[in-house]
Amino acid sequence: MKLQDKFSRIIDYMRISITDRCNLRCVYCMPGTGIMPIEHREILSYEEIVRVVKVAAALGVRKIRITGGEPLARKNVAYLIASLRNITGIEDMSLTTNGVLLEKYAKELADAGLNRVNISLDSLMPERYREMTRGGEISPVMKGIEAAEKAGLLPVKINMVPIRGLNDDEIEEFAGLTLNTPYHVRFIEFMPIGAGDLWSDKRYISTDEIKTRVEKIGALSPVRLRRDGPARYYRLEKAPGVIGFISALTHHFCDDCNRLRITADGKLRPCLFSETEIDLKPALRTTPPPPDKEIERLLRLSIEVKPEGHNIHQLKDSASLRAMSRIGG
Ligand code: GTP
Ligand code: 5AD
Ligand code: SF4
Repeated sequence: MKLQDKFSRIIDYMRISITDRCNLRCVYCMPGTGIMPIEHREILSYEEIVRVVKVAAALGVRKIRITGGEPLARKNVAYLIASLRNITGIEDMSLTTNGVLLEKYAKELADAGLNRVNISLDSLMPERYREMTRGGEISPVMKGIEAAEKAGLLPVKINMVPIRGLNDDEIEEFAGLTLNTPYHVRFIEFMPIGAGDLWSDKRYISTDEIKTRVEKIGALSPVRLRRDGPARYYRLEKAPGVIGFISALTHHFCDDCNRLRITADGKLRPCLFSETEIDLKPALRTTPPPPDKEIERLLRLSIEVKPEGHNIHQLKDSASLRAMSRIGG
C-alpha cells in the first residue's frame, strides 16, 4: 500500500540530508561561528540510507533528492547515488548543492546515475558572494554550473533567495540569465528558518514583489513543466531558460505536498516547518537488524502525523527552528 496521509496526499518524494556540514556559511542559513556539527557516529551511514530508501521505494517513493548542509562535502556521494539508482522504483534522483565542488564531481555523479542538480547562488558579484557566504569564492561555482550542464545534469536549476538590502538589486540580472542560457532560475522567498538575527519582516520580499521587478525586463508567460513541485514557472519572450518562483511563505503549496524528509542524523521529518520528527536510528541500529516491517511502520507513522499545512504567523515568530543546514531545505 502506498504512503498516503490523512489529507489524501500521496507521498512519493523523499529529501535526504546526508550531512549538516557545509563548506560555506551563508548569512541566511547558518550563524558564522559556534555551530556544533552533529557527531559523525550520529549521522546515517550510506548503508542505512539505502536500507530506508529500499523500503520507501516499495511503498511508492519515486523521487529522491540528496541535500545537506553541502552534500558534496561528504565523501563518496557518487557511491551513494549509484546504490540508490539500483533500487527498483526510483525514477528521479537529484541533488541540491552550493556548487563549490561541482566542477570536480559533476561527471562522476552523472555517471553514477544522478539526473540533475539544483545550485544555490545568491549573488553574481564576487565581493558580495564572498560576504553572503562568509568567505566563498564565486568562480568555482560558475565553473560548477557549466560542468553540470556539460555532464547532462539537466535542467540546471539555480536557486536565488532575494533579501532586501542585501542582494535584491540583482533580481533583474538573475532573471536576465534565462535570456542567454537554458537554466531554470528560481527565486525563493526568504524564510525565517536558520536565518537568526538576519530575519526580519523588512528583509523579506514576497513573490509578488519579486515578480513585479522581473517584469521590468519583459513580460512573463506562464509555462507548465512536467514536474512542477513548489515552484511556479514563467518565461521571458524568446528566452531559452525559465524563471521560477517558490512562494514558501505567501502561497501555500501544502495542499499538494508530496514530501517526506530525512535529516542527516536519521530523523523522519514530515514537514519542513514542523518540529515533529520520528527517529529512525534506534530501529536501524538494533542487533539483529530490524525487519523491513519496522522501518515501514516508522515511515507510515511519520506520514500519519504529517500536518495539513504550516501556519505562517506562528512561523514568522520562530526564528529558532532547527537550522536549515540540518534539514536540507
Ligand atoms: P525540484 O523542483 O524537484 O527541482 O526541487 P525543489 O525545488 O523541491 O528543491 P530545492 O532543494 O531546490 O528547494 C528549493 C527551495 O524550496 C528550498 O528553499 C526549499 O526549502 C523550498 N522547499 C522545498 N520543499 C518545500 C516544502 O515542502 N515546503 C516549503 N515551504 N518549501 C519547500
Ligand atoms: N530562506 C529561504 N531559502 C533558504 N535556503 C536556505 N536557507 C533559507 C532561508 N532561510 C535555501 C538555499 C538552497 C535551498 C535548499 O534552501 O538557498 O537553495
Ligand atoms: Fe551551506 Fe546551503 Fe546553508 Fe549556504 S545555504 S550555508 S551553501 S547549506
